[in-house]
Amino acid sequence: MVGFLLQLITIITLQILLPPTQSRRSTLPPTIQLPVSYYQQPLSHSVSDFGAVGDGVHYDTSAIQSAIDACPSTSPCRVTFPSGGTYLTATIRLKSHVTLHIEEKATLLGGTRIEDYPKESSKWYVVMAENANDVGITGGGVVDGQGLEFVVRKNKKKNVMVSWNQTGACLGDECRPRLVGFLRCKNVDVSNVSLMEPAYWCLHIVQCQNTSIHDVSIYGDFNSPNNDGIDIEDSNNTLITRVTIDTGDDAICPKTYTGPLYNLTVTDCWIRTKSSAIKLGSASWFDFKGLVFDNITIVESHRGLGLQIRDGGNVTGITFSNINISTRYYDQSWWGRAEPIYVTTCPRHSNSKEGSISNLLFINITANSENGVFLSGSKHGLLSNLRFINVNLTYKRWTNYAGGRVDYRPGCQGLVNHNAAGIIMEHIEGLEVENVNMRWSDDRPGSWNNPLDFRPSTVNNISLLNFHSGWFKQ
Ligand SMILES: *[C@@H]1O[C@H](CO)[C@@H](O)[C@H](O)[C@H]1NC(C)=O
Ligand SMILES: *[C@@H]1O[C@H](CO)[C@@H](O)[C@H](O)[C@H]1NC(C)=O
Ligand SMILES: *[C@@H]1O[C@H](CO)[C@@H](O)[C@H](O)[C@H]1NC(C)=O
Ligand SMILES: *[C@@H]1O[C@H](CO)[C@@H](O)[C@H](O)[C@H]1NC(C)=O
Ligand SMILES: *[C@@H]1O[C@H](CO)[C@@H](O)[C@H](O)[C@H]1NC(C)=O
Ligand SMILES: *[C@@H]1O[C@H](CO)[C@@H](O)[C@H](O)[C@H]1NC(C)=O
Ligand SMILES: *[C@@H]1O[C@H](CO)[C@@H](O)[C@H](O)[C@H]1NC(C)=O
Ligand SMILES: *[C@@H]1O[C@H](CO)[C@@H](O)[C@H](O)[C@H]1NC(C)=O
Ligand SMILES: *[C@@H]1O[C@H](CO)[C@@H](O)[C@H](O)[C@H]1NC(C)=O
Ligand SMILES: *[C@@H]1O[C@H](CO)[C@@H](O)[C@H](O)[C@H]1NC(C)=O
Ligand SMILES: *[C@@H]1O[C@H](CO)[C@@H](O)[C@H](O)[C@H]1NC(C)=O
Repeated sequence: MVGFLLQLITIITLQILLPPTQSRRSTLPPTIQLPVSYYQQPLSHSVSDFGAVGDGVHYDTSAIQSAIDACPSTSPCRVTFPSGGTYLTATIRLKSHVTLHIEEKATLLGGTRIEDYPKESSKWYVVMAENANDVGITGGGVVDGQGLEFVVRKNKKKNVMVSWNQTGACLGDECRPRLVGFLRCKNVDVSNVSLMEPAYWCLHIVQCQNTSIHDVSIYGDFNSPNNDGIDIEDSNNTLITRVTIDTGDDAICPKTYTGPLYNLTVTDCWIRTKSSAIKLGSASWFDFKGLVFDNITIVESHRGLGLQIRDGGNVTGITFSNINISTRYYDQSWWGRAEPIYVTTCPRHSNSKEGSISNLLFINITANSENGVFLSGSKHGLLSNLRFINVNLTYKRWTNYAGGRVDYRPGCQGLVNHNAAGIIMEHIEGLEVENVNMRWSDDRPGSWNNPLDFRPSTVNNISLLNFHSGWFKQ
C-alpha cells in the first residue's frame, strides 16, 4: 500500500525563475527547471527515537546515522532533529531519498576533533552525501561547524587557523573540515536552513546535477580565511535563490576541476565578504557556460563580481543584471582590491593554458567603490564581446588602505603597481559601453588618474555610447 502511494507522489517541477515581471528579465537566457523535493514526506524518523540526546556534549553520531540508515532505500524519508536540541556529531552520510529536517531551534553541531572525520581529507564534512539522488537539508534549523574553535590566534587582519596537516591527510595550511558536501548527487535541495561557522568551505556542490539552494542563510567569521559560502564545482543546473551570505572568504564560487560547469542561476541574494562576492575560478580547468546572476546586493566586500580564470577553461555566456555593489579595501592578504567588477584571465604559471572569456553582459549595475573596474585578458586568452549597459559607477575613497596596485593573483603577475582608473582594460576584442555613468565623489584628488585606461595595441573595438563622467556631490 505504502509502495503504491509512493508511486503516486508527483515530483513537482518548480518554474523557479519565472520572474514577477516578465519584461524586466526578457533579455536573460531561458530559465532552467529543477525538480523540488517531494511535497509529501510519508516517512519520518526522529533522531531522538534512535537515541540522540541533543545536549551538545555527547556525540549523537550513531543515533543520527542509524536514523538515516533505517530509511528505506527507494522512497522519500525525513530524518528530523527535534526543536531545542543541539546534536553534536562526527561526519554523517546521507543516502538517496533522505532529507535532514533540522527543526527551528535545533542545531546540528560539527565535532572539532580530527577523529570526528573520515581518513581521507576529501571527505571531511559534517554532513555529506555521495552518489545519492533526491537528498537535502531543510527544516528551519542550524548546521554549525564551530569554526571559531579552529582559530589558533585571532587577528583582525586575518585569523591564524589550525591545520590538520600533521597526519599527512593533506598538506599546507588549508586542512580543515568543510561543513556540508554533496558529491556526485542528483536532485539536491538545501533550503530553509542556516549554515554557520564552517571551519573551512561551507556548502560544497561537486559534480552534481539539478541542485536547488534557496532560503538559506550562511554565516562565517569575517576574519577567518577559507570559509567560502557556496562552492560549486563541475556541476550542471544549479539554482541559488534567496540566500544571504555574510562571511570572510568568497561567497559564491563556481569552479571547474574535472569537468565543465553549465547553467548556474543565482537570484535574489545578499552578500557581504572580505573577499569576492561572486567569483568564477580560480580553479578553471574546464569551461563555464550559461551563468546568470540577477537581483543581488553586495555590501562592504573586497571585490564584487569577479572572474579569476587561470587554468585554460573558457568562459562564455554570463549575465550579471540588477546588482548593487559596494566594495572597499581590506588588508591585501585577502584577494581583492575593492574592484566592483573584475574580469581576468591569465596563465596561473608560465606553463598553464590561457582560457578565453566571451559574451559577458553587465546590465543595470550600480556600484559605490574605492577602486575601478578591472578587465584584463592575456595574450592568448582574450576577453571578447563584453557589454556594459546601464551601469553607474561612483568612485570615492573612504578607508586608509593604500591604492595604486592592480591584482593579478593568484599566480600571473601578482600585485603590480599601477595608478587607479575608472576602467582599466587589457587584451580585449570588442567592448560596448552604453549608458555608463562614472561619478567622482572624492575629496582626495590625485587618487584617480584616468577614467579609461587602455592601449590600442591590446584593446580593439571599443564603443562608447552615452558614456558620462563627472563630479558627484552628495
Ligand atoms: C534594466 O532596468 C530597466 C529599468 O529599470 C528595465 O526596464 C530592464 O528590464 C532591466 N533589464 C534587465 C535585464 O533586468
Ligand atoms: C543548460 O540549459 C539549457 C537551456 O535551458 C539546456 O538546453 C541545456 O541542456 C542545459 N545544459 C545542461 C548541461 O544541462
Ligand atoms: C533535472 O531536472 C530536469 C528538469 O526537471 C529533468 O528533466 C532532468 O531529468 C533532471 N536530471 C536529473 C539527473 O535528475
Ligand atoms: C522554514 O521552516 C519553518 C519551520 O518548519 C517554517 O515555519 C517556515 O515557514 C519555513 N520557511 C520557509 C521560507 O520555507
Ligand atoms: C601545516 O599548517 C601550518 C599552518 O597552520 C603551516 O604553517 C605548515 O607549513 C603546514 N605544514 C605542512 C607540512 O603542510
Ligand atoms: C554537465 O554538462 C556537460 C555538458 O553536457 C557534461 O559534459 C558534463 O559531464 C555534465 N556534468 C555533470 C556532473 O553531469
Ligand atoms: C530581489 O531580491 C530581494 C531579496 O534579496 C527580494 O526581496 C526582492 O523581491 C527581489 N526583487 C525582485 C524584483 O525580484
Ligand atoms: C539597488 O538600489 C536601488 C536604488 O537604491 C534600488 O531601487 C534597488 O532595489 C536596489 N537593487 C538591489 C538588487 O539591491
Ligand atoms: C578553450 O578554447 C580553446 C580555443 O578554442 C581550446 O583550444 C581549448 O581546448 C578550450 N579549453 C577547454 C578546457 O576546453
Ligand atoms: C544611474 O543613475 C541615473 C541618474 O541618477 C539613474 O537615472 C539610473 O536609474 C541609474 N541606473 C542604475 C542602473 O542604477
Ligand atoms: C566590433 O564589436 C561589435 C560588437 O561589440 C561587432 O558587432 C563589430 O562587428 C565589431 N567590429 C569589428 C570591426 O570587429
